[in-house]
Amino acid sequence: MRELRGRVCVITGAASGIGLALAERAAAEGMRVVLSDIEAGPLEAAVAGLRGQGATAIGVRADVSKEAEVEELAARAYAEFGAVHLFCNNAGVFSREKPTWEHTPADWQWIFGVNVMGVVHGMRAFVPRMLASGEPGHVVNTASMAGLATGGMGTAVYDASKHAVVSLTESLYKDLVTRQSLVSASVLCPGVVDTNIFTAERNRPAEYGGGPGQDVASPSSAELPSDWLSPQEVAAQVFDGVREDRFYILASQPVVFEWVRMAHNRMWEGKNPAVPRRKGVEA
Ligand SMILES: NC(=O)c1ccc[n+]([C@@H]2O[C@H](COP(=O)([O-])OP(=O)(O)OC[C@H]3O[C@@H](n4cnc5c(N)ncnc54)[C@H](O)[C@@H]3O)[C@@H](O)[C@H]2O)c1
Repeated sequence: MRELRGRVCVITGAASGIGLALAERAAAEGMRVVLSDIEAGPLEAAVAGLRGQGATAIGVRADVSKEAEVEELAARAYAEFGAVHLFCNNAGVFSREKPTWEHTPADWQWIFGVNVMGVVHGMRAFVPRMLASGEPGHVVNTASMAGLATGGMGTAVYDASKHAVVSLTESLYKDLVTRQSLVSASVLCPGVVDTNIFTAERNRPAEYGGGPGQDVASPSSAELPSDWLSPQEVAAQVFDGVREDRFYILASQPVVFEWVRMAHNRMWEGKNPAVPRRKGVEA
């Protein structure tokens, strides 16, 4: 989809990090923007910020893990603007690190509820409406480089959820192409980006073990690259990818590219997975 000016963009997880940068970039491209997030205060501030710069923007609070709230988000976007052309299924959460066998059913349910079912609810609410409109459109699902090759240590739930997003977005793309649709799809796989993702536990509901007194920080025990990307760099790559109808939008630093390439090569070569270096531990 090359022409964006005047068109409508909806973004989930738009109050912070990559989602906020996508919203700012959409506004700078002259799009009308629907920002959605579970956090009402930051969402309000983000919408006010965009409006202050002259953008046409509204905010709709929605928890993407809840089908009815995502359906309501789609209904609001269409009621307000009559169309949606770019839908960024971006909201996502990360958990405290633990060995694979110690992640509780609540960890799996919360993270898969947001990272996987949130994307599923988004596709189910928006894609049929976008197809019915007969207008060009594009869906961008945010996965991760950790969805292409298992990344960290202690991040089994997150990595598995992002593998699911890569796979289901490939299916979405094939289903759209098979039907010669005007709507296309991309999967966004960021590397390590400077956002609030490491405090994602702030949004864990009580029913999944969240609440006051929780250790919200999730510092990685794996050695992360020092050259973190900015959310703005990621957003710029997303808009290039949408314009070029590029399916895989890999917005990453070189060391993470190499990690994924090496992981895939090892598989074809019959070798066992490489294990990332631990912080402060000599290889
Ligand atoms: N930061 C990174 O290094 C990185 C790398 C790869 C992929 N990602 C992915 O990028 C996406 C955006 O994350 P970010 O890094 O900008 O983090 P962030 O925490 O800065 O932003 C995520 C936003 O999602 C919102 N959110 C959380 N739970 C929600 C829910 N149930 N419903 C609706 N909104 C909800 C949060 O309030 C927040 O505003 C996520 O899908 C994340 O997995 C991030």
